[in-house]
Amino acid sequence: MRINMPINNVERHVNESDYLVSKTNTKGVITYVNQPFIEISGYSKQELIGQAHNLIRHPDMPPEAFEDLWKTIQQGKPWSGLVKNRAKDSSFYWVYANAAPIYESGQVTGYMSVRSKPTREQVQQAEALYREMREGRCRFKIEAGELVPVNWFGHIKQIARSFTIKSRISAISCLAIISLSFMGGWSLLGDYQNKERLRDVYENRTLALIDLSTILDSIQRMRVNALTAANSNNPVIAKERFVDTNQLDRIFDENWSRYSVTSVTAEEKVKAEEFYRNVEAYRISRDKTMNLSIEGDFEAARENAVKYARPKYDLVHSTLIDLFDIQERQTKKSFDAAIEQLELLKISTIAIIVFFASIYLYLTRLLHRAINLPLAKSECYF
Ligand SMILES: Cc1cc2nc3c(=O)[nH]c(=O)nc-3n(C[C@H](O)[C@H](O)[C@H](O)COP(=O)(O)O)c2cc1C
Repeated sequence: MRINMPINNVERHVNESDYLVSKTNTKGVITYVNQPFIEISGYSKQELIGQAHNLIRHPDMPPEAFEDLWKTIQQGKPWSGLVKNRAKDSSFYWVYANAAPIYESGQVTGYMSVRSKPTREQVQQAEALYREMREGRCRFKIEAGELVPVNWFGHIKQIARSFTIKSRISAISCLAIISLSFMGGWSLLGDYQNKERLRDVYENRTLALIDLSTILDSIQRMRVNALTAANSNNPVIAKERFVDTNQLDRIFDENWSRYSVTSVTAEEKVKAEEFYRNVEAYRISRDKTMNLSIEGDFEAARENAVKYARPKYDLVHSTLIDLFDIQERQTKKSFDAAIEQLELLKISTIAIIVFFASIYLYLTRLLHRAINLPLAKSECYF
């Protein structure tokens, strides 16, 4: 590393309309300089031509900047950045430099740099950054003339930058396929889960409620039959009611076995068993009322109906109402869970869309940069 001394604090300023141009061979030896370059450097043309470009190197410039410059232009890419140069009389001047390879018949024959006047803001930022770099406390490094943070985000940026335009377009296409497939799969999964919830609400709750209603109806009609038989004072009517009650027993059993296979909670199971025990007890008492009526002993039938069958019927009725309550609560729970799941699906879908959209935007930005930056840089030369 060449250290050109002495230096002083006198600053020279590049004219707004000037472009300082120099060319080198592939080793960095100056082969051409234009008049504005000669004037601000303080050297004569003869003193510059044939010299290594580090003749005008200022000791304040961090070596990393030039390492990056050489690495970039040797890869055939343009480099741009802020450079502080030392003039022959020890003063300094800042330039915004664009350097790029010179191609002749497809071969790199040298390098060219075109410099212009930087803004004050650019100079201040570069001054602060290069000072931090020299002092080894900088959290950025220079990549192709751009600042990259020295952390995992910087690594990602670095990897992303190394992608060619072709690979960036391929990455965007792949992401489109992946995100569309993912979204499709996600909505199919959501759709399946929603159907399962709806099935639960319909099969386990709505149909179960219908079964319980039929059970309630058959129990009430059994009771009416038993009371009618006992109060009819007619064994024929009592017999008819007995036959009808057997029919109602079958309806009850059918509905009960259907209801029992629906998915029941622990609380529901306990209540259902209690209800069934009550029904069995009631049926015995009810049949006794029926048999006494068929035998013509209506006095004893009425006494049995009022004293024994009725309390048992009341128990059946109250446990059945409890089962209705449980069913209603379970239906509401299943419905709320379905709504909650729909909400979750909505939020997660939005989150996924935002996630993929951010990656899209980032990749598209990278693609734009890959196309626009070299174009913008090359415009400086023409
Ligand atoms: C086309 C071109 C232009 C360059 N312009 C400058 C310049 O203006 N100032 C400078 O210090 N180095 C410039 N360099 C970089 C020098 O070749 C050298 O790498 C740098 O001065 C660091 O010197 P060192 O190797 O002694 O550390 C340029 C290189 C090339 C290829």
